[in-house]
Amino acid sequence: MISKCFAARAAAVFAACAATLHLAAQTAETNVLAETNLVTTPNVTTATNSIAAADAMAETNASPPLYLDPSQPVEKRVDELLAKMTLPEKIDYLGGVNGFYIRAIDRLGTPAIKMSDGPMGSRNDGPTTCYPGGIALTATWDKAMAGRIGVALGRDCRARGVNILLAPAVNIYRSPLCGRNFEYMGEDPFLAGQMVAPLIQGIQSQEVLATVKHFACNNQEWDRHNISSEVDERTLQEIYLPAFKAAVQQGKVACVMTAYNLVNGVHCSQNDFLINQTLKAKWGFNGIVMSDWWSTYDGVACANGGLDLEMPEPNSMNRANLLPAIQDGRLKGSVIDDKVRRILRTVIAAGFFDRPQLRKDIPLDDPENDRAALAGARESIVLLKNKKHALPLDRHAIRSIAVLGPNADPAVYCGGGSAFTRTFHAISILDGITQVAGETVKVLRGTNADAAVQLARQADVAVVCVGFDQRPRGEEQERNRGLAEGEGHDRPFELPAGQTDLIRAVAAVNPHTIVVINSGGGVAWAGWLDKVPAVLQAWYPGQEVGRAVAEILFGDVNPSGKLPATFEKRAEDNPTFPYYHLNGNKQTPYTEGIFVGYRGYDARKVEPQFCFGHGLSYTEFNYGKVEVAPKMIPPLGQATVSVEVGNSGKVPGDEVVQLYVHPVKSSVPQPPKVLRGFERVSLKPGETKTIHFTLAGDQLAYYDVKTHDFAFEPGTYEILIGSSSRDIRGKGRLEFKVPGM
Ligand code: BGC
Repeated sequence: MISKCFAARAAAVFAACAATLHLAAQTAETNVLAETNLVTTPNVTTATNSIAAADAMAETNASPPLYLDPSQPVEKRVDELLAKMTLPEKIDYLGGVNGFYIRAIDRLGTPAIKMSDGPMGSRNDGPTTCYPGGIALTATWDKAMAGRIGVALGRDCRARGVNILLAPAVNIYRSPLCGRNFEYMGEDPFLAGQMVAPLIQGIQSQEVLATVKHFACNNQEWDRHNISSEVDERTLQEIYLPAFKAAVQQGKVACVMTAYNLVNGVHCSQNDFLINQTLKAKWGFNGIVMSDWWSTYDGVACANGGLDLEMPEPNSMNRANLLPAIQDGRLKGSVIDDKVRRILRTVIAAGFFDRPQLRKDIPLDDPENDRAALAGARESIVLLKNKKHALPLDRHAIRSIAVLGPNADPAVYCGGGSAFTRTFHAISILDGITQVAGETVKVLRGTNADAAVQLARQADVAVVCVGFDQRPRGEEQERNRGLAEGEGHDRPFELPAGQTDLIRAVAAVNPHTIVVINSGGGVAWAGWLDKVPAVLQAWYPGQEVGRAVAEILFGDVNPSGKLPATFEKRAEDNPTFPYYHLNGNKQTPYTEGIFVGYRGYDARKVEPQFCFGHGLSYTEFNYGKVEVAPKMIPPLGQATVSVEVGNSGKVPGDEVVQLYVHPVKSSVPQPPKVLRGFERVSLKPGETKTIHFTLAGDQLAYYDVKTHDFAFEPGTYEILIGSSSRDIRGKGRLEFKVPGM
């Protein structure tokens, strides 16, 4: 009875809410504006009236249908509901409604299911907590932190009645120019996979479904509806798909969102190879595959290609297109049933028919979640450079600090587009420094370049805050070109106009100049990097940006983030450089193959500015001998790699210990090293801990294009333990041998 009442009530409430929703922009390109994706808050009076109506309705119905009975097995409930739906109803169910909902079926009393964008916060319902963006979170290399931020995101969703969060996003960082790198999880598929799984588990632990996106190869924003990512089979399987696979198989993600672009000539929303053959058949994905917003191009092809849910509305998979196709045999009715079944199975199993999703006991501005945002921000920031111990600052020795540059205030905490998240409070670097510096340090703020130089001259220390920001494009498109990062557009390699000159001018008058960068990836360093002693990569670390940066500047927090992507010296060093914007030709050839990021820089012997895995600390870590036991194992066996790591400095710190592997001989081209393990460890001064990694043959497999499957070559593997990909501290060897051979 409870469930029947709830379902009837929920259906009526959701339907009423939907009626009051203000529809979002109608085209995908306007969708890139930060606010246009939002739906407005339901009209409370209407909702209250419909609750009363729903209660009255519920009382007149004697026994609830089986599909609304939570004590029944999920599949039985799905079967019963499916049997009650007409074919047109089933087709309608495959298209979203009101911007961000799976539709209610009023006739059958099933509720609408509400979605909200991420990944930096549950952003569709007004202000909320903003967490470190994907690449910032990945820079923590802290799986527990990913889980903690996931739980916080899930709680925010519950506080807003959100059933499905449209996050996380795991497209590989292939070029620094991609406008969405800040949402994604870096250049390494193993790292991204290891971080995304606990993030998803955290979100889903709060009975909120996660959506991994954008499947697949959405590695640039330029002309994103029309370009085809041309990727060879091995590269696809080794670089661009594994993080999605980890999301599915380790994270048990409930939903997958397809990408705007084409892969090898076929749009992702109708890509049979990606959706049917790989995601569903090979990886065993049982959940919902939804399109990205307005990214379907052919309804029948989408239906046959494996898409289950078209968002935000049925433009292609609708009655007009699908009914004739069923009649003339181009589309099977069982294909429609499978899609409806997937949607129903997923939402019923999540309990969405059985309980209200809104939890009023969780505050909208949740102090616990703010603590998670701060903890994540502290771990995410990377100390790129620190010559002559320019950092940390000694608040007893300095009397004044000039806080300069466009990103000093107001807070730049978030990227733009559908990830942009409004907060209740965000602390700028200026405010953070003012709070953290203490009363004896005078904080000076100059807004224009001339004033900045004047202040820098007077101050003991100058902090120059530069980088991109979240400002939307659209109407202001031209003015904002090159200043913002967000979906729908890429950004230049160079820092926004005037910033390099500002850094140079400030550094010329103040040798103690610290640069803080907000960006989703590497920038141009030429002409300024060698002029300053210290640089912090702050990404978009969420609403506590200013506090986390200030605490690191003053040494209250020891920096511990490490780069999840290689920062090259020059744009031309990146292998995508000649192919990135091929005007006229809609194909983007992934000519570098598997040699993405450090794999390629190592293989081609190109010196990066800051290598993958790099990040400095205020303390020193020393590494002991690398032990491998046993040293020889059968191909399916596993060995333990151990190493002692100690803190030999004066302050506590966290180190990220990285394990790379290289087959000594291989029948296929292999990068000089590939990340296969990592652990973050906290060490007090003088403390030592032993880190253990497990290595198994199947983790070291490569993709064999002859068998179209992963294959493992027995033989000798070199094991490299490092503090970064280019700061290798110890080596070991492991033999995989077929017994008796
Ligand atoms: C973005 C998605 C987002 C969706 C809904 C699209 O433009 O690419 O990441 O989830 O809009 O806002």
